[in-house]
Amino acid sequence: MKVLPQLFENNRKWANQITKSDPTFFQKLSQQQSPELLWIGCSDSRVPANQIVGLLPGELFVHRNVANLVIHTDMNCLSVVQYAVEVLKIKHIIVCGHYGCGGIKAAIDNRPHGLIDNWLRHIRDIYRKHLDELMCITDKDKQMDRLCELNIVAQVMNVGNMTTVQDAWEKGRPLSIHGWIYGISNGILLDLGVCISSAEELKELEK
Ligand code: CO
Repeated sequence: MKVLPQLFENNRKWANQITKSDPTFFQKLSQQQSPELLWIGCSDSRVPANQIVGLLPGELFVHRNVANLVIHTDMNCLSVVQYAVEVLKIKHIIVCGHYGCGGIKAAIDNRPHGLIDNWLRHIRDIYRKHLDELMCITDKDKQMDRLCELNIVAQVMNVGNMTTVQDAWEKGRPLSIHGWIYGISNGILLDLGVCISSAEELKELEK
């Protein structure tokens, strides 16, 4: 018995639609992928990477986890970045978080959530580091929004400090890291203006 039949039906419709507009689309795609962008985003179902930036299969290399964290010992994320930079030779890494992130909320709500709390500790570290600024924001939602932004900036710096990225910069390869945030309540993407394209720019951002 086929489970979730609707999804297979949707898939056939989707594949037909694409083939109609470009009969060789999948054939060409099966030969190679050459995306210029790596997207590191949140697992949240409301933030589908390709759709919100209007890109087709083959145009975006994607890594997603809860709260779009880039942790220096996370072999999964490290491997994705290494493959993207060294093999696919992508030119842009986008760290895209979103307002209203459940992971960010859970990190500071002082309630136990089980195993995921170990993952979310990294956000508590960012929260503690910026406690003075955050405490000046009296509106709780705005405070959370700011923490979502600060988390993205921290992850941009973490990407910049990855050995793979440092090596690419040392070799003079063009590679930029961007920090973007998406509004799930309006569908709008914003650039946080923390783009770094060299070790020097990383140092500036870390000041
Ligand atoms: Co999220």
